[in-house]
Amino acid sequence: MKTAKMIIDKDFAIAPVDKRIYGSFIEHLGRAVYEGIYQPGHPSADEYGYRRDVMELVKELDVPIIRYPGGNFVSNFFWEDSVGPVDQRPKRLELAWKSTETNEIGIHEFSRWAHMVNSEVMMAVNLGTRGINGACNLLEYCNHPSGTRYSDLRIRHGAKDPYNIKLWCLGNEMDGPWQIGHKTMEEYGRLAAETGKAMKLIDPSIELVSCGSSNIDMPTFPEWEAVTLEHTYDYVDYISLHQYYGNQDSDTNDFLAQSDDMDRFIKTVISTCDYVKAKKRGKKDINISFDEWNVWFHSNEEDDDTMNNHPWQKAPHLLEDKYTFEDALLVGLMLITLLKHADRVKVACLAQLVNVIAPIMTETDGPAWRQTIYYPFLHASRYGRGTALLPVIKSPVHETSRHSEITDVDGVAVYNQEKEEVTVFAVNRNLKEDLEFAIDIRSFAGYEGLEHLVLKNSDLKICNAAGRENVSPRSQTVSASKDGVVSVKLESGSWNVIRFGKKQ
Ligand code: AHR
Repeated sequence: MKTAKMIIDKDFAIAPVDKRIYGSFIEHLGRAVYEGIYQPGHPSADEYGYRRDVMELVKELDVPIIRYPGGNFVSNFFWEDSVGPVDQRPKRLELAWKSTETNEIGIHEFSRWAHMVNSEVMMAVNLGTRGINGACNLLEYCNHPSGTRYSDLRIRHGAKDPYNIKLWCLGNEMDGPWQIGHKTMEEYGRLAAETGKAMKLIDPSIELVSCGSSNIDMPTFPEWEAVTLEHTYDYVDYISLHQYYGNQDSDTNDFLAQSDDMDRFIKTVISTCDYVKAKKRGKKDINISFDEWNVWFHSNEEDDDTMNNHPWQKAPHLLEDKYTFEDALLVGLMLITLLKHADRVKVACLAQLVNVIAPIMTETDGPAWRQTIYYPFLHASRYGRGTALLPVIKSPVHETSRHSEITDVDGVAVYNQEKEEVTVFAVNRNLKEDLEFAIDIRSFAGYEGLEHLVLKNSDLKICNAAGRENVSPRSQTVSASKDGVVSVKLESGSWNVIRFGKKQ
């Protein structure tokens, strides 16, 4: 059996992991909101119409922050439509996804739901069809205590206390020609800077995210980052990255190599942020909000048909990707990549959370269920809190059709000092061979392996379904350390979580 090695040392820290990297995203899109989080009349609905079965799964994932209300949706969103008495709210043509938006769920209802699932809201403002004015009024409505037009309106709408939303996105994917109100980098940079400036006058405690590129292949990348940040540098705290991957050619080796592209994407954006900082003679770092990431391609054809041939439905089935086992492996690799950049990636949102390219699915007349990708996210969110440690890994490498020198094993460790636990996350992306993985834990005196969680299926294309969990983790024991080294087997094509701690 081939061998890979990893050394983890508690003194070789990357940075504390910001828990917001386990964020997610709910957009008014498809059945994310209606029939997802909200479905009055469903057997599990509570007094507000929120599905309790969904809430339980979201709580299990322990998602600290949820981006809302879009996405492409936000670029033609009139927030005033989504507040006040529900029966007086207008129905609207929703242009991004060619659906009908009823506004039954709006800012108030979403904030209450987020609170109930122990999450904070990360709010996006519309910089597509609107601008400074709409954004400022929304911020005043959400965060100003009282005594002004919009704060008093909120109070009249039943929310005495401000929502105190701390993290705000200045628009969404404004570099994309598909975006309603798409902008050039100069147009966006100026608008985002002026909007950010005004918003921070209203509430200096907020943090702002400037829109970066919609993916690494955008023709304007990375010029977009450099030009827009030159405008926004003084006012923003983060720049966004978005990236989705697919396996259209069914070339799984190459599919799993794409987390290395994600790594390059992050590195290039960090360099660009630092370039602008230097040019501005600035003091602060611009950090990264990777606020949309996932696998997304399974539903593309169906979605085109729905939007083109059956438009303007309420809560249509859109972006309902059914995730395979191999998708879970890439999601695990993407999580590892985010953790390896814990010093600069402070926010990340798995896009999305329910029904729309999501770890959680619902049946309209049935239960909520966990997709394959639910599990790596659950493990990282549960065991990946603490300090990310520099992963010193020696692994065999392989070639793929479009990538060279791809390590069989990618991994990272997180040290939770408070709980006296250290967890290694590792994927063996060699699809043919098992590997022996020797983990040197010498710096963790007295630690032993507590558990080895494995997600593995011989069928890379297998999915889960309601009542049918084909893919779920199994737990196995870890053999005792020898001379400070613990060896585990990483099965070919598997996600692994190896937990160490002090045994009682
Ligand atoms: O998450 C689905 C869509 O992907 C979002 O609305 C958009 O921002 C991105 O293109």
